[in-house]
Amino acid sequence: MLSKQDNELVCRVGPGTPMGRLMREYWVPAVLSSELPAADSDPVRVMLLGEQLIAFRDSNGQVGLIQNNCPHRGASLFFGRNEEAGLRCVYHGWKFSADGTCVDMPNEPAESDFKHKVKATAYPCVERNGLIWTYMGSRQTPPALPDLEANNLPDGAYSVSAIQRESNYLQGLEGDIDTSHFSFLHFGAAMPETAQPGTFHYYTLKDRAPRYQVLDTDFGCMYSAFRPAEPGQLYHRIALFLFPFWTMIPTGVLGHQIIARGWVPMDDDHTMFFSLTPKVRGVERATQPGMELHPNTTDWFGRFRMLSNAANDYRIDRAWQRARDGDYTGIPGIHTQDQAVTESMGKIFDRSQEHLGSSDAMVIRTRRRLLDAARALEESGTIPPGVDHPEVYRQRSGGVVLPEATNWVEATAELRKAYVPHPELDPAISGRIGGQQPPKRVPA
Ligand code: FES
Ligand SMILES: [Fe+2]
Repeated sequence: MLSKQDNELVCRVGPGTPMGRLMREYWVPAVLSSELPAADSDPVRVMLLGEQLIAFRDSNGQVGLIQNNCPHRGASLFFGRNEEAGLRCVYHGWKFSADGTCVDMPNEPAESDFKHKVKATAYPCVERNGLIWTYMGSRQTPPALPDLEANNLPDGAYSVSAIQRESNYLQGLEGDIDTSHFSFLHFGAAMPETAQPGTFHYYTLKDRAPRYQVLDTDFGCMYSAFRPAEPGQLYHRIALFLFPFWTMIPTGVLGHQIIARGWVPMDDDHTMFFSLTPKVRGVERATQPGMELHPNTTDWFGRFRMLSNAANDYRIDRAWQRARDGDYTGIPGIHTQDQAVTESMGKIFDRSQEHLGSSDAMVIRTRRRLLDAARALEESGTIPPGVDHPEVYRQRSGGVVLPEATNWVEATAELRKAYVPHPELDPAISGRIGGQQPPKRVPA
């Protein structure tokens, strides 16, 4: 559990908060490139770290992320005219370039130099692999982008997607680093006999109470959750937390799986989850059942909302749940199941009410790292982990079977390195990971 004070400290990310300051030390994903599909396309309302911003792509293709309220008298720049390398406020015609410079002030006399004294807050943006990153911190020269392999794949080989979650970022993030829920929430009614013997999936269903070993690293922390495999062997599920909101989950085969999952706070109560992976068999990452999205709207919270949500109880099918037909929840789709439980905790769960067990070791360590880093930044200006070391993000996660007495950290050093090919690995060893049946009936 956390004290109420620490819970507030770790969850609140607005301007001026300790965790908000920590997050602003890093580059953060703001929007997908596809949200700004062409030069001079429509501006987009973006809520990010509790700030209302307007994203636009100018005539030259450069992306701007600018304060919502016009510096003149506050009209929303969302209504701005995106024209000739700038966004023109429709109220009195002031025009701003992507870096926030006021380039035209047509309602002032021509001889006035007032426009040179006005600058809008605008955050630098960089585009990589379909993702637009921004830096909202105070440095004149931002640090380098984190070297995440999943965001550095060749053109045509990557997949990037976003889904909004209506709860605090930490609830989503904690779901990713808590592997023990996997055999319950996602496969609670699946029997080991339904899995291929000798696969990771089989071991996961056979023993649902793994032991944990957690350790601090230069990027954050990582764990192995291990359980018996064949006699004399252990199946290790290795997953990572990387500052300030990234995870690499343990589902695939270590050395083969390339993944990064960002839990980016929109504000304290809403999160944009960004998923970075390779394309599977040349197509965008397959969408799971139940993951359908509403079309985006222009609302501050109108982007990437799921059709299955709290208002329709995530389309739970009680008959399917009761049938124990491989499924525990009756909620279609792994992502939707995660969404349902973490949103059901409330916008910000009061962690002083928890009862944490040994399976929560990684959750405990991750919170501790975040709290310590935020305090160290507040109290002594200590630069948080990874900010000036993009290379520490060159990591991989996943599962591996090792002899019982092996030191898993040493034994997996090579497999955990990004950008290293391992043609010897067979991804089929992970077994059946899509164990769900499609729902018999989806309630309206
Ligand atoms: S409020 Fe934008 S130009 Fe006046
Ligand atoms: Fe999950």
